[in-house]
Amino acid sequence: MGTKLYIKTFGCQMNEYDSQKTADILKNERNVIVTDNPDDADIILLNTCSIREKAEEKVYSDLGRLRKLKDKNPKLKIGVGGCVATQEGLNIKKRAPYVDLIYGPQTLHKVSGLIDKSEIKGIKAIDITFPIEEKFDSLPDPVSTGPTSFVSIMEGCSKYCSFCVVPYTRGEEVSRDPEQIFNEVARLAEQGVSEITFIGQNVNSYKMPYKGRFLRLSDLIQITSNIEGIERIRYTTSHPLDMTDDLIEVYRYVPQLVSHLHLPVQSGSNEILKRMKRNYTTELFEEIIYKIKEIRPDLRVSSDFIVGFPGESQQDFEETMSLVKKIKFDSSYSFIYSARPGTPASKLNDETPMEEKKERLFKLQSTLDSFHKGYSEALQNSIQRCLVTGVSKKSTGQLQARTECNRVVNFDFQNHSLIGKLVDIKINEAYSNSLQGTLIEYN
Ligand code: SAH
Ligand code: F3S
Repeated sequence: MGTKLYIKTFGCQMNEYDSQKTADILKNERNVIVTDNPDDADIILLNTCSIREKAEEKVYSDLGRLRKLKDKNPKLKIGVGGCVATQEGLNIKKRAPYVDLIYGPQTLHKVSGLIDKSEIKGIKAIDITFPIEEKFDSLPDPVSTGPTSFVSIMEGCSKYCSFCVVPYTRGEEVSRDPEQIFNEVARLAEQGVSEITFIGQNVNSYKMPYKGRFLRLSDLIQITSNIEGIERIRYTTSHPLDMTDDLIEVYRYVPQLVSHLHLPVQSGSNEILKRMKRNYTTELFEEIIYKIKEIRPDLRVSSDFIVGFPGESQQDFEETMSLVKKIKFDSSYSFIYSARPGTPASKLNDETPMEEKKERLFKLQSTLDSFHKGYSEALQNSIQRCLVTGVSKKSTGQLQARTECNRVVNFDFQNHSLIGKLVDIKINEAYSNSLQGTLIEYN
């Protein structure tokens, strides 16, 4: 039997992508087989997240549980990767000495070497440096896992928002070579992938020289839309400051680009935005949305929000609520501010009681949920162009598809040959997390 690998992924899509790539690399280099049962594994990797406090605590409690597996099987290799690894470094060994290797988001291509190193007594198997170009160069050919796929186009972030740990854990922004990106999309399309999502911490600050000029995200979207088989293009996450006019204009020219934009605003108060060092105002944010809506009136916007940033007054919070009601955001994420080690905001005075913050979060989430529900209900009786993504989780006699704004739609159909195709579905029923529909046309 081959070596069995179990990877647990915490956090964002970047981490999901990184886990997939780590598995692909270890398949090539060590012939591993991926298992979804940690009890059965020879190598266990935790691909961690440190964006908020809770994520870190989860890692340490998971490690506590893994210790028992290691007691049973001393040959088991335990690795900690991702952002907690960069942030904590060798401290992880102090709290969990049975961890064999420590690697960061930009050194996942070195995991096999680190496993070998961990065999040698006296040598520390740790590498949490940021060799981002080298990482991009070492990524193996992509292997599709279905009709949708992520494609990383940049790494790290140089925006240094005052609350955020990403620039310290993933390093400064580096854009990926465009040839590598086009190649990856083409390989995926050949394998039947019809929807790609360009991912990175800040995809719209992408900038790389190519054939005598600079390519931006707008160019990547335009060029990849010409690759045969690519029916849908998404991108995440973008920053309002980099929503340049060329990017707004691609909504006019590239029909494959979905009418769904995830654009984190964080707060509706200009004073708080300034202290967060976001470098835009709510007026600029609204202007971007209106400009795209002029081109795509049906655009849905989702966002990220932080409540209880140090010094956020009731008035500041009300301004966030006003913005939410004005834009009527679709499915969004909202979090209570959590002080991250080494970030400028962690030194600010924070006097708002936790109870108050929880109340604000509850109010915000109730309003966001009501918009989410409203949008779903408004889809009832309409016909939606959906991408068939696989067999329904609910019943094997059903397939699952996704609308442009990423709602899951289940519909009766047995034939798996529809997977990966765009079809028209009449939406009959809206539930809180999915829709039920009837297939009306396909070819
Ligand atoms: N690149 C993205 C954000 C990446 S982090 C951007 O441009 O905003 C994902 C989300 O986590 C952020 O949008 C923010 O809402 C939240 N987040 C980041 N740091 C946080 C912190 N210290 N406390 C609470 N939420 C945080
Ligand atoms: Fe973080 Fe701001 Fe970059 S939220 S990922 S520093 S854009």
